[in-house]
Amino acid sequence: MPRKSRLPTATEWAHHYLATQLSTNAHLIDATAGNGHDALFLSQFILPDGHLYLFDIQEVAIQTTRSLLLSNEIPASNTSLFQCSHTELKERIPSNLHGAIDAVVFNLGYLPGQHKTLTTLSDSTLVALESSLELLKPGGILSVITYPGHATGAEEARCVTNWMKSLPSSAFEVQRLQALNRLAPPPELWIVKKS
Ligand SMILES: C[S@@+](CC[C@H](N)C(=O)[O-])C[C@H]1O[C@@H](n2cnc3c(N)ncnc32)[C@H](O)[C@@H]1O
Repeated sequence: MPRKSRLPTATEWAHHYLATQLSTNAHLIDATAGNGHDALFLSQFILPDGHLYLFDIQEVAIQTTRSLLLSNEIPASNTSLFQCSHTELKERIPSNLHGAIDAVVFNLGYLPGQHKTLTTLSDSTLVALESSLELLKPGGILSVITYPGHATGAEEARCVTNWMKSLPSSAFEVQRLQALNRLAPPPELWIVKKS
């Protein structure tokens, strides 16, 4: 990670940890494609024979992410972009990869610059998180960032926290990283490692 005057953001921490766990030929899921920044980061680990599966409910997010990947010369044959809810994770990921995914990434909330009502919601997020655990390989990583600074995000963060706390320690390691001395509720990064 490059030397900076401030501590890393939640996203930078997530990328930093994922980079220590991923190498080449990875099979990865970005469950909230948005502007494609996480996707571009993940794409460096998929070549030559891996694959990146991307989900977002918004057409603009899918188009932006596709353009970003193509302009960075990521072959379209190594990516699949789905304009649908991440509740469809299990249906959309090929069955031969169930239990073989290296990492699933969620950057929850709404797309900066777009309408804030198009945000992730607790009920669908929890369905997708459950599916992610089934899709991961042993040793696979689930990374989730929540944004409790707005009302819907606060409720979602509360549900994600309860869900994370309920995971059996015999099957999953769970850690949370969060700034502690800020007035506004800061983003929370959750990392889950499947045993
Ligand atoms: C904070 S943005 C993601 C940022 C993105 N990862 C990036 O690197 O730019 C959250 C995204 O989640 C999407 N989203 C909301 N509900 C969703 C759902 N049920 N399934 C998939 N994506 C959803 C929104 O459209 C938005 O683009």
